[in-house]
Amino acid sequence: MSTASYLARRGQIETYFDRTAAATWQRLTSDAPVSGIRATVRAGRDRMRATLLGWLPPDLHGRRILDAGCGTGAMAVELARRGAHVVAIDLSPTLVSTARERWASEPFSGAIVFRAGDMLDSSLGRFDHVVGMDSLIHYRAPDVVRAVAGLAARVERSLLFTFAPRTPMLSVMHAVGRLFPRGDRAPAIEPVGEAAIVRLLSADPSLSDWRTGRTQRIASGFYTSQALEVVRP
Ligand SMILES: C[S@@+](CC[C@H](N)C(=O)[O-])C[C@H]1O[C@@H](n2cnc3c(N)ncnc32)[C@H](O)[C@@H]1O
Repeated sequence: MSTASYLARRGQIETYFDRTAAATWQRLTSDAPVSGIRATVRAGRDRMRATLLGWLPPDLHGRRILDAGCGTGAMAVELARRGAHVVAIDLSPTLVSTARERWASEPFSGAIVFRAGDMLDSSLGRFDHVVGMDSLIHYRAPDVVRAVAGLAARVERSLLFTFAPRTPMLSVMHAVGRLFPRGDRAPAIEPVGEAAIVRLLSADPSLSDWRTGRTQRIASGFYTSQALEVVRP
């Protein structure tokens, strides 16, 4: 499944989250004070996490869940709190170490296996659900669909992920991002319209047993992201 565009982007994302932005990301995802703009992002991300968690049963005992692109582990810990066995994986070994340390004293953290690596690694095994919060937004839409299809082959119930919806605001941010030298900037976000991503998912033959379900856009200051559910009916 790993196309050249997926691998190239994956390399940029790993460099960005493991080195360029690791400290910023650790702070954003902590309780430490942040600037007004970042506070809007933090608030939006909290709402997005709550939205995705709201699409899963309150009791997750007996369920195995992949937190795909776990960052510093906030989603993984909420899933474990509800009783799930969680595999939390991220490209960034730095963020994975932070996650391990940050949640080590929580009683249910023993139900989380934190790993550094690619979320598409088939050796991770089978899952009841996959949750990927803002971890596919930097990949081109065809690569997102291939990733979802690859994961779906190992999933029983649902995949919840977010995409960057095509909005005027995101288009401006995308254009501004291109003004920065390549080494300094975040990997580009790849906006896609809701109708386009739904059409691409529906057209993929390996997703013929799956349907798109709920969708929810969250906009909070500089944060805009849209959750989408893919379920086995
Ligand atoms: C915007 S952050 C979100 C992190 C976390 N899901 C959260 O919401 O706090 C995106 C994360 O996805 C990870 N990521 C992107 N592509 C990945 C891949 N192919 N496999 C594993 N992690 C990936 C990045 O390293 C980064 O930590």
